[in-house]
Amino acid sequence: MSDDRLIVALDVPNALQALKLTDQLGDAVSFYKIGLGMLTGGGLALANELIAEHGKRIFLDMKLFDIGATVEAAVRGLAQFDLDFLTVHGDPHVVRAAKEGAAGKDLKILAVTILTSLDRGDLDDGLIRAGDVADLVVERAGRAFAAGADGVIASPQEAALIRALPEAEGRLIVTPGVRPAGAALGDQKRVATPASAIAAGADHIVVGRPVWQAADPRAAAQAIVDELALI
Ligand code: C5P
Repeated sequence: MSDDRLIVALDVPNALQALKLTDQLGDAVSFYKIGLGMLTGGGLALANELIAEHGKRIFLDMKLFDIGATVEAAVRGLAQFDLDFLTVHGDPHVVRAAKEGAAGKDLKILAVTILTSLDRGDLDDGLIRAGDVADLVVERAGRAFAAGADGVIASPQEAALIRALPEAEGRLIVTPGVRPAGAALGDQKRVATPASAIAAGADHIVVGRPVWQAADPRAAAQAIVDELALI
């Protein structure tokens, strides 16, 4: 049986391989993340097929950022599909526009605070104001919630700090950077196990390579579902 707290990232090279993987995973996984790489190669059609023909939930990771009118129009278009989650950058004007576009639909808008691949030097390069990155992440999360975000994307380390914000009450925290004990880290540096990410306040965890690169993806996903069942 699946557990929709687990979201598997479909970061495989193309939609055909994604369908093959979802077939293998079967009823062990009910929720998938489709990212930009897949979106530029038929990802929206894949999302539709997984929703309509396989009854799956979909998180579209588009990280939208543009002027308000454009974000609103883009989200209004996407909201016609039965998607569950969509990411936008956490700037309040972007979040407000996305919420306008999703008005009346079930689509949840998740805000990206600061990409976890960025360090202080990158923020300096981008003229982002001084301060500890973790503090800025928490502050941006608070502002995104105030602008109406249904949730935020956060590393497991940030999840507990964000969960403690009064504005986080009733909002979602979705956490990538999750590795089952013993799994290869890949390029993820600050990781947590599925159970500890949930314990830190995450509502959903996003796991990619530990599932799709596994010799037996279904067994890898099932092991995570079994771990979550113990919490
Ligand atoms: O393979 P892995 O489990 O590291 O995949 C995690 C997924 O979450 C990837 O799709 C990655 O792009 C995404 N992600 C992330 N860290 C973020 C935001 C998104 O790893 N801060």
